[in-house]
Amino acid sequence: MVAAAADNAAREGLSVEVMIGDAGDPDLPTGSFDIVTASLVLFFLPKPVAAPSAWGELLVDGGRIGVSTFGAYDAAWEPVDAIFEPYLPPDLRDARITGKQGPFGSDEGVERLLVDAGFADVRTASGPVPVWFDGADHWHRWTKSTGQRRMGEMVPEAERAAVQASAGRLLDDTRRQNPDHRIGFDQDVRYTVGRRRNR
Ligand SMILES: C[S@@+](CC[C@H](N)C(=O)[O-])C[C@H]1O[C@@H](n2cnc3c(N)ncnc32)[C@H](O)[C@@H]1O
Repeated sequence: MVAAAADNAAREGLSVEVMIGDAGDPDLPTGSFDIVTASLVLFFLPKPVAAPSAWGELLVDGGRIGVSTFGAYDAAWEPVDAIFEPYLPPDLRDARITGKQGPFGSDEGVERLLVDAGFADVRTASGPVPVWFDGADHWHRWTKSTGQRRMGEMVPEAERAAVQASAGRLLDDTRRQNPDHRIGFDQDVRYTVGRRRNR
C-alpha cells in the first residue's frame, strides 16, 4: 500500500513523504502540520479519544482534522458482511461491532470524540459510496483489495472453498432482494471535521 501510494504520488508529480507508523501513537513533530486526516481507520484504534488527541498535538493552532467512518449500509448486505465473522480474532471483531455501537454508531458519537479530543467547530457531512459487483468473483477480488483480505486469510485453507460457496449463495440472496437485481450495497460514509483550538 505504501509503495503504491508513493508510486501514485510520483506519477502525479506530487512531493510527498510516505511513512509507516502506528496511527494511535504517531512519531511525528508536534505543531507542524496544517491538516491531519484518517480514512476509515479511527475505529480500529484501541483508544479512540487518545488518537485524535495525539493527532491534535501534531497540528499548528487552527489546523484542521478530517476523519471518515462507516455509517449505515443496506440491511440486505449484513449476512454477506458476516461471512468471515466466526473466524475473526477479537480486534477485528471489535472493529466491526464498534462501527454500529458506541461512539461510531452515530454522527453525534464521532463528533463527541473529536470535541473530547480538543477540537472546535466539529461537524459532519455524509454520503453514500456505491459498492456493486459483477458477480461472486468480482466480490471475492474486492475483499482481497480491502481490509477484508486479512479477514479472508483468517479462514483455514481447508474451509475456504465451503466459505466461498456459501458466499455465492448469500450474494445471490442479495441479488433477489435488491430492486434492480444487482449484487452489492450502498455504504454511507461519515466525514467528521474540526479545527484545533489555539494553544
Ligand atoms: C478500512 S481500511 C482503510 C484503508 C484506506 N485508508 C482507505 O480509506 O481506503 C483500514 C486501514 O487502517 C489501518 N490501520 C489499522 N490500525 C492501524 C494503526 N494502529 N496504525 C495505522 N494504520 C492502521 C489498516 O492497516 C487498514 O489499512
